[in-house]
This record gives sequence, structure tokens and C-alpha cells, in this order.
Amino acid sequence: MSVELDVVPEADLLPEDVRALTEWYGERFWAERPPFTCRILARSGAEIVGHLGIGTRVIAAGDQDIQVGGIGGVRTRESWRGKGIATLLLRRAQETMRDDLALPFGFMTCRPEIAPVYLRLGWQEVAGPTVVGAGDEAKEYAGLSLILALGDVAWPEGPIDLRGRSW
Ligand SMILES: CC(C)(COP(=O)(O)OP(=O)(O)OC[C@H]1O[C@@H](n2cnc3c(N)ncnc32)[C@H](O)[C@@H]1OP(=O)(O)O)[C@@H](O)C(=O)NCCC(=O)NCCS
Repeated sequence: MSVELDVVPEADLLPEDVRALTEWYGERFWAERPPFTCRILARSGAEIVGHLGIGTRVIAAGDQDIQVGGIGGVRTRESWRGKGIATLLLRRAQETMRDDLALPFGFMTCRPEIAPVYLRLGWQEVAGPTVVGAGDEAKEYAGLSLILALGDVAWPEGPIDLRGRSW
């Protein structure tokens, strides 16, 4: 069956989509995430078979403030894995961040074992170290930090502070 991609601003998410995503990810997942600006949904008929969210925030990298599109919640339904759904979602996220949101970079934190999914699509590891969380919650992230350059600006090297939770 064919799959269609839907880019949905957060305010336009349909109640049935919110319900389906909450059932799929669990309440706790959403409680722990910072808000997204928009979602990319892969739909097959009435079913959501893949999802990711893009949240925008100014973070610190080296001695600069830099706006990023933070990617989170990348997931494909188990029975749909290995069919290129995440690849479609990530390519569309790249276009959305560059063309619609006019962002210079995508950013994500990621477990090392999942990194190949992203590295093959142009994402690059940056050294950081990366602090996630703010105030009492702030701590150094133990996994990888990945960026996606969306223009010709160079990523500022040096420590990264997400100034909040990761997506
Ligand atoms: C990771 C995940 C999103 C991949 O989704 P998918 O739709 O199956 O991915 P694709 O079919 O587009 O695969 C893209 C490529 O990444 C590879 N890949 C897929 N899952 C992988 C994984 N878990 N680890 C390493 N590589 C993986 C595929 O082999 C494929 O490469 P190929 O075309 O050379 O074979 C999916 O396995 C998933 O939902 N996992 C559970 C949630 C999760 O861990 N999300 C990531 C959070 S950072």
C-alpha cells in the first residue's frame, strides 16, 4: 500500500492523530518532550505508520547562539520497518527545515547504534560535549549529537548547550 507524507503544524494536529500518537508512544513520551513546531506523519490509509517531530529553539554552540530544528520521536511501526519510511520522513524534514522554517541546521541527540540511519542522509556527528536540560536537570548527554547543515554556514565548534530537554 502506498504511503503519503503529511507535514502538520502542531496547532493543526487532528484530535484523532493526537489520540493515535498517544496510544502508540504512550503518555509519558509526550510529557518528557519539549513542544514540537510541526510533525511529519507517514500515513497509509487511515493509519499513521511513521512519525517524527521538529522543534525549533535557539541553542548555544561554541560561543554562538544558533537556531536549530530539533528532531525527535523518529519512529516507524514495527511491521513497516525496513521499507524506507524513516528515510522518507527524514528527507521531508530536511526540506521543511530548510525551505519552510528557514533554519540553518537540524539537530538531534541519538543513541550510537541508531546513528547509521541518519549519517547516510547527510547528518554529521559533532563533538560537543552536549548539555541537555536546564537548571537542576542539566547534564551531559552520553550519546551522540548529530547536525544537518541546511545552508552554507559552518557549525560553530565547541561545547553545546541545548538550554532545555532534547527532542
Ligand atoms: C530506527 C527506525 C526509525 C528506522 O525506521 P525504518 O523506516 O525501518 O528505516 P528505513 O527503512 O528508512 O531504513 C533506513 C536505513 O537505516 C537502516 N536501519 C534501519 N533501522 C536501523 C537501526 N535500528 N539501526 C541501524 N540501522 C538501521 C536500514 O538498514 C536502512 O539502510 P539500507 O537501506 O541500507 O538497508 C525504526 O527502526 C524504529 O522505529 N525504531 C524504534 C524507534 C527508534 O529507535 N527511533 C530512533 C530514535 S533516535
